[in-house]
Amino acid sequence: MDSGLQDLCQAVRCNANWKLAVENFSESYHLTWVHPSLNSCSRMEDHFNFEVGGPHGRQGSLLYRSGLIDGHSLPTFPNLDALKKQTVAEYITVFPNLMLGVHPDYFLVFLVNPLGPDTSAERMVFYFVGDAAMTPDHKMLRHLPIDLWQVTNDEDIEMIERMQVGRRSPGFDGGCFSPALEQTVYRFQQEIAQAVGE
Ligand SMILES: [Fe+2]
Repeated sequence: MDSGLQDLCQAVRCNANWKLAVENFSESYHLTWVHPSLNSCSRMEDHFNFEVGGPHGRQGSLLYRSGLIDGHSLPTFPNLDALKKQTVAEYITVFPNLMLGVHPDYFLVFLVNPLGPDTSAERMVFYFVGDAAMTPDHKMLRHLPIDLWQVTNDEDIEMIERMQVGRRSPGFDGGCFSPALEQTVYRFQQEIAQAVGE
């Protein structure tokens, strides 16, 4: 891939089990409540599921827009058709702990590593398209998605840390899955159960 690497590699500590972060990345129904500002430009109803084979989760959005500053945007990956160039973002969860965000103008690698049963370290690395995207005059454009992901992920961490607290509540009975909204989470948990021998 002819891409530039953005130097945003520091790990962020999250006081929750790593699997809660993966589950969070696998579904989009929390957008409405956890990310009201993000939901205004990437609504839950614009998201879709697709197949990539194997145990990997996948969802996408049909309403992605590249960031604009003074009418300029970052270069996009070559060989994208016009529709995908304008709109489509895809999010793939590679079992067990690697998450990928594929956008027309950047590629996100999101890794969550366990530090303990209720602590994890999250790391995001951004790849942009070609040397042209990495010039100093593109710095502000590069920071549009970086800053958005940092704000969004802070909101996610706050939520999953509360979920971690909830897991220890005597009132937590395991819950149940929504067949319409949580297929990807259900499949992830099935893979985990299989991996640890049920
Ligand atoms: Fe989220």
